[in-house]
Amino acid sequence: MKLIESFMILLFFNQVKSQGKRTNKHLRTGLSQDRDISQSGIEEYPLSVQSITSSNISILEHPTTSTKSPMLMPSREHKSPEDMKLYLLKNTHVTCNDGTTAGYYIREAKANKRWIIFLEGGWCCYSKETCDIRYKSAKRLMSSSNWPKTRRGTGILSPRQDENPHWWNLNAVLVPYCSSDVWSGNVSKVTNDYSFMGSLIIQEVIRDLVPKGLKQAKTVILAGSSAGGTGVLINIDRVSALVDELTADTVQVRGLVDSGWFLDKKNAKSDCKDGSSCALTDAIKKGLKLWNGVLPDKCRQQFKKGDEWQCFYGPKSFLSMKSPIFVVQWLYDVEQLRIENITPDFQFMTATQWNNIQIIGREMKKSLREVPAVFAPACFSHTLVTESNWLDFQVKGVNLARALQCWEKSLQERRGQKTVIRGCPFHLIDNCHWPHCNPTCPALHDPVTGQEVTLLQMFLRLNLENQRRGQEPKGDLNQLMAMLRNGG
Ligand SMILES: *[C@@H]1O[C@H](CO)[C@@H](O)[C@H](O)[C@H]1NC(C)=O
Ligand SMILES: *[C@@H]1O[C@H](CO)[C@@H](O)[C@H](O)[C@H]1NC(C)=O
Repeated sequence: MKLIESFMILLFFNQVKSQGKRTNKHLRTGLSQDRDISQSGIEEYPLSVQSITSSNISILEHPTTSTKSPMLMPSREHKSPEDMKLYLLKNTHVTCNDGTTAGYYIREAKANKRWIIFLEGGWCCYSKETCDIRYKSAKRLMSSSNWPKTRRGTGILSPRQDENPHWWNLNAVLVPYCSSDVWSGNVSKVTNDYSFMGSLIIQEVIRDLVPKGLKQAKTVILAGSSAGGTGVLINIDRVSALVDELTADTVQVRGLVDSGWFLDKKNAKSDCKDGSSCALTDAIKKGLKLWNGVLPDKCRQQFKKGDEWQCFYGPKSFLSMKSPIFVVQWLYDVEQLRIENITPDFQFMTATQWNNIQIIGREMKKSLREVPAVFAPACFSHTLVTESNWLDFQVKGVNLARALQCWEKSLQERRGQKTVIRGCPFHLIDNCHWPHCNPTCPALHDPVTGQEVTLLQMFLRLNLENQRRGQEPKGDLNQLMAMLRNGG
């Protein structure tokens, strides 16, 4: 009991300490109450821990009808030149799942020779059944028929200098995800129930951008979040080759992978019998066939036939990649946890789950060690670069925008990726050992009350719960307190 008391005192201090800090630090997407996620299917918008904890509701039963992320908001009220304008592809045969022509949004900056092309995320579908369900519940991710004429860029796509200090005036392109194939597919509706043309959509976007100024580009960043981030991993070298082919000068092509760096589930047991709720690896394996997935040649060659799906995993595909990439990855990515069957429902978390979460964090850290350019905060979350408040989150006192700027500088030096500039770091992985130990982590919310909770509170509740059940308090309180004494 003594232990618990001192723990509560610490907890109190921590709360007071964090109250000021945390104001306005909610991940924007963490505030919406009505986003659903599904075990089997569609992660339509960046997930918050809250949305994970609050629902075992499936999007399959509760179609999401409205768009929540500010980036996805059609900007009806006041059209401004800052908005990104929709263009459908010139090649109308390159389509979304339902046969409607795919497209992109662009905000041009004619005088600027730098480009960012952003691939949206949103999980995938991998069978007629899962795609039918997705079409009913999230048509926007499979069809261009109802896309708004304009969209507003946020975070790294924002035209506002205060929100996007280094890249606000770039040529910004947003490619909506409507192929449900992790941007890999190469099969048309002519022979199928649905088209899966993700890899072709990227190619056609690049082709259409050439006369819009891409021909004169100096740098092109291919970026993406979640499935879009994985899409960057598997497309970057092909995009680089295509840009080389279509442009006059040497253009530097780089990748920015946000929350798309997944680890293969260690103790994979197939849970894919009914075809409607496959875990990631099973989904990818099934999907690759359906989508006629195109993978990087170099990566594919590393694996024997039937094992090419491994190229979807960052730690595997990275090894054979030619283009420089920057990896943004929350160490406790909630999608990664979901792959491992952990929903961070802190109220009922078992000690085993808690331990597994820590193991995943450690493995994530390990997998990123050799990647030269990384931003990896020790938080529970998912996706970052297009969040309006992306600048709030820091690793070792550096925010992502700054780290990206340092990375670009080092690449300009052309001395290879490992050039390090003094005082300008871009290999940033949190050292602290606890989930959510980074003081800038987005706030977590109680699934029932919606109130903000600190991880410590949840941890305390867990221990009390265990005591009530007559178990020993699990988890290493000493370690936690030592960490607090050291200021996290
Ligand atoms: C979650 O699922 C369980 C079992 O399927 C059900 O009893 C419970 O009511 C569900 N909770 C919510 C919030 O839907
Ligand atoms: C897509 O498939 C077609 C025909 O099957 C092939 O010619 C083409 O090279 C493929 N595209 C890619 C990007 O692999």
